[in-house]
Amino acid sequence: MTVRPAEPRDEEWILDVLATSWGGPLIERLGVLVDAREAVAFVVEADGVPLGLATCLVRPNEVEILTLDSRSEGRGVGSLLLERVASWAAELGVRRVMLLTTNDNLHALRFYQRRGYRLVAFHRDSMIEARRVKPTIPELGHHGIPLTDELELELVLPSQHLGRSG
Ligand SMILES: CC(C)(COP(=O)(O)OP(=O)(O)OC[C@H]1O[C@@H](n2cnc3c(N)ncnc32)[C@H](O)[C@@H]1OP(=O)(O)O)[C@@H](O)C(=O)NCCC(=O)NCCS
Repeated sequence: MTVRPAEPRDEEWILDVLATSWGGPLIERLGVLVDAREAVAFVVEADGVPLGLATCLVRPNEVEILTLDSRSEGRGVGSLLLERVASWAAELGVRRVMLLTTNDNLHALRFYQRRGYRLVAFHRDSMIEARRVKPTIPELGHHGIPLTDELELELVLPSQHLGRSG
């Protein structure tokens, strides 16, 4: 299994992942729609078959994981993507990797926290605004939990990984 930056040949597969998992390429985060097609993307593949996708936004001091999807759960695809994003962020010299997930996504909360991410913010009722910009977001999420809030998690990168001069 390898992880690499997305290439033009991945486009159709990426669009399929975004359509299947996220209802299309426009991803809602804190009441704003972001086009994942314009994000930096990494793909995990095995024997030439794509198995996982991470899309990321870059800001001056942070990288945001916009989407993270595994098409073959429980065999390290998601972990490999997280490792690649963290090492890429370190190369960029940013201080942290952050992401938002929804209050119903208990699996993601477990997954990220077991991999060093800390909960740093709770955006109460943010899904009200989310539905204004993306009305297709359902009222109920995983496990029948009302989909109401976004939670912010971050990974602070070790200082020895900061930039060439840091
Ligand atoms: C979160 C996600 C990316 C993890 O990907 P993955 O390829 O399964 O990741 P890994 O195999 O590296 O690790 C998964 C962990 O969850 C466990 N796991 C895998 N599939 C599982 C499932 N269906 N139910 C419960 N646990 C599961 C694994 O045993 C492993 O546990 P560990 O933390 O004890 O090591 C994947 O579940 C996914 O695509 N979820 C849907 C999209 C999503 O919610 N993305 C995150 C929000 S941005």
